[in-house]
Amino acid sequence: MTAFNILDDLPRILGELRGKIALVREDLNVPMADGRVSDDTRLRAAVPTLAALSDMGCITLILAHFGRPKGKFDAALSLASIAAPLAEVLGRSVTFMAEPSRDALAALPAGSIILAENSRFYAGEEANDPALARSWAAWGDFYVNDAFSAAHRAHVTTEGLAHILPAFAGRSMEAELRALDAALGSPKHPVAAVVGGAKVSSKIDVLVHLSSRVDHLIIGGGMANTFLAARGVNVGKSLCEHDLLATVETIFAAAEAANCTVHLPYDVMVSREFAPNPPSLRSCNVHEVAADEMILDVAPASVEMLGDVLKNCATLVWNGPMGAFETPPFDAATVTLAKTAAALTREGSLVSVAGGGDTVAALHHAGVAGDFSFVSTAGGAFLEWMEGRELPGVVALTRAKV
Ligand code: 3PG
Repeated sequence: MTAFNILDDLPRILGELRGKIALVREDLNVPMADGRVSDDTRLRAAVPTLAALSDMGCITLILAHFGRPKGKFDAALSLASIAAPLAEVLGRSVTFMAEPSRDALAALPAGSIILAENSRFYAGEEANDPALARSWAAWGDFYVNDAFSAAHRAHVTTEGLAHILPAFAGRSMEAELRALDAALGSPKHPVAAVVGGAKVSSKIDVLVHLSSRVDHLIIGGGMANTFLAARGVNVGKSLCEHDLLATVETIFAAAEAANCTVHLPYDVMVSREFAPNPPSLRSCNVHEVAADEMILDVAPASVEMLGDVLKNCATLVWNGPMGAFETPPFDAATVTLAKTAAALTREGSLVSVAGGGDTVAALHHAGVAGDFSFVSTAGGAFLEWMEGRELPGVVALTRAKV
């Protein structure tokens, strides 16, 4: 039993599905380069739901946003250009319909898949305007939210429609919610969290929340420098938020009170300049960083120690790289630790869940994204979930459970 309706509940709740009109929220907010989709992960994530509804004979209208047009038409952000790449990934035809209506949809053959225009061209979408929600709800018979990565937004297509129409989680949404529950909701302990990235300031709430939920908090990336500085380490020219030392102290205290061990690197890769393979590159103990050096990655002995922590854990949730991974060789710690996590997952001793834009890119770079138990398609929504916040799109689905 799930806390929300899923596609398997459709026949029980709605009876005959052939010819019924499904309004399906997908996240088609894909990165583009030179007019082409440069990463089709989110298109692929939409396939199981769209294929299942089409196979059931439903007429599917896909609702989605693209970019941030702020309530106005912007030709460069039209979803018209996504119909063809989506159809290719889906292996079925997808027709773009700029102005859907119930009559136009109802006249289509069973199994049709239609893509509506960018929902954010309408100001009422982001305002979650009830009048707009009612007028869009009138197009369909039921609503499916398959866009976990947009579930932190309380918009008409992510939240409002769930109050009006019978509401269901799509396959991708269902998979995300199950994986996240396995990672932090009701996980097998010990649980480790790897939190990296440049700044403590962008992840204070994540760190505070995790310190009371996990057994091991592994800090990497630029934010580790601020933690080291709070421990009295002189981090030289490293990126460091000196104004946040008191905040870091409260995170240490919260972790200690919750029996959560905070792991910081004890040796690091340093250099005088931030450039690929810099001549001044060396590894050193954190207490030996010179005044003109900056910490750019975790060094191998510490990476091994962190890998040993993972070996003793049953669950891992990962967000953020361990070093300046886009510039070699400062990708080394991220790649090595990711490989350790992947190997433990393959062996069956670790459930590993990762999310967030940089993180997914880092796991792909390490060649292990496919070996993790689950990699979320979400950026902002994954972070808000890691902060322990309720996501409006998920709450609305839970309330709609029948
Ligand atoms: C994302 O790309 O993370 C989602 O599509 C949400 O987009 P938004 O941050 O513009 O709401």
